[in-house]
Amino acid sequence: MALRVIQWATGGVGQAAIEGILRHPELELVGCWVHSAAKDGRDVGELIGRAPLGVRATTDTAAVLAMDADAVIYAPIVPNADDVAAILRSGKNVVTPVGWFYPGATEAEPLEAACRAGGVTLHGTGINPGGIAELHPLMFSAWSSAVTYVRGEEFSDIRTYNSPDVVRWIMCFGATADEAMHSPMLKVLSGGFVQSVRMCLDVLGFSTDAEIRTVQEVAVATAAIDSPIGPIEPGRVAAQRFQWDAVIGDRVVVRVAVNWLMGEEQLDPPWTFGPEGERFEIEVKGDPDCFVTIRGWQPQTVKAGVARNPGIVATAMHCVNSVPYVCAAEPGITTYVDLPLIAGRAHPDLGR
Ligand SMILES: NC(=O)c1ccc[n+]([C@@H]2O[C@H](COP(=O)([O-])OP(=O)(O)OC[C@H]3O[C@@H](n4cnc5c(N)ncnc54)[C@H](OP(=O)(O)O)[C@@H]3O)[C@@H](O)[C@H]2O)c1
Repeated sequence: MALRVIQWATGGVGQAAIEGILRHPELELVGCWVHSAAKDGRDVGELIGRAPLGVRATTDTAAVLAMDADAVIYAPIVPNADDVAAILRSGKNVVTPVGWFYPGATEAEPLEAACRAGGVTLHGTGINPGGIAELHPLMFSAWSSAVTYVRGEEFSDIRTYNSPDVVRWIMCFGATADEAMHSPMLKVLSGGFVQSVRMCLDVLGFSTDAEIRTVQEVAVATAAIDSPIGPIEPGRVAAQRFQWDAVIGDRVVVRVAVNWLMGEEQLDPPWTFGPEGERFEIEVKGDPDCFVTIRGWQPQTVKAGVARNPGIVATAMHCVNSVPYVCAAEPGITTYVDLPLIAGRAHPDLGR
């Protein structure tokens, strides 16, 4: 029997997740929550540009909670812990790219209680936070002894992220430098990325005295730059760099960093991705050292990324592919540390 899955929100991640559920041999799409009134009652197939699927989207949260389903892929623009707790209490496992990657005790407690009440599991995953910031550094550290440093770093052109609300309101592109530097953005991002750093510290066994230091830098446009939120005018934020370092004494032992640029041509300071271009990097210093570059999660062109960004698809697919493992896990919040190896599935034309 297939696992019955509900998709919660149909932005970029949600739409890709629906495609992934439809292709996954162990999953069945049975419901869909939407925020937008314009999508209420519409067939989910139509929402993703396909033939009707016979599953209708709804804005009715109570109706979704009352549905019979095994799991919810929860991908709204911002997390709502009360909604997640209600989904868990209704007896549905939750996989999400919006948080709970490795929550601290205070944040975890109410959701642990909801998991226990519903007899289900909550799992946070994605590419960053998610794979790049914690899973991959930890995974590659297994090929080294005496680890002194791990790093996960993103170098992305944000002109390809076609989520204007996230780009404008969460990432603060187009704001003044002063607005961006004084916005809640660093706190919001740190909510996820500090969990990544703590997971690396704990799993690798670094001293619990490590201090977490944060860097935030912005670059502004020198001329108007076309972007998913319209032109970014000269003097407005067009690139940002965030870094979370765990430091023991004077040594950085864990670094997570993101370099988000609206192109490389009209920026002050004149930041670039360097000759290697867009990429994700994983580094482990130990015996031996290890250096990994991941390509493919960034599109070939801005136009292709705006149409379908592979990083967003990858985020959705790790959520989708996690569902069978999360449904089989013990009730509670589960992290990469607790789950077995998560794998994708063969193309439907090549599968059993
Ligand atoms: N961990 C990772 O690696 C990773 C990677 C990418 C994204 N993310 C996160 O995943 C989430 C979804 O990203 P996305 O790219 O899919 O964003 P998106 O394209 O902007 O979609 C967000 C969706 O949220 C719903 N929504 C809008 N306003 C809302 C509100 N006020 N309350 C509740 N829901 C609302 C809408 O759903 P409907 O259209 O159905 O109405 C919207 O389409 C974001 O939080 C993003 O930061 C994480």
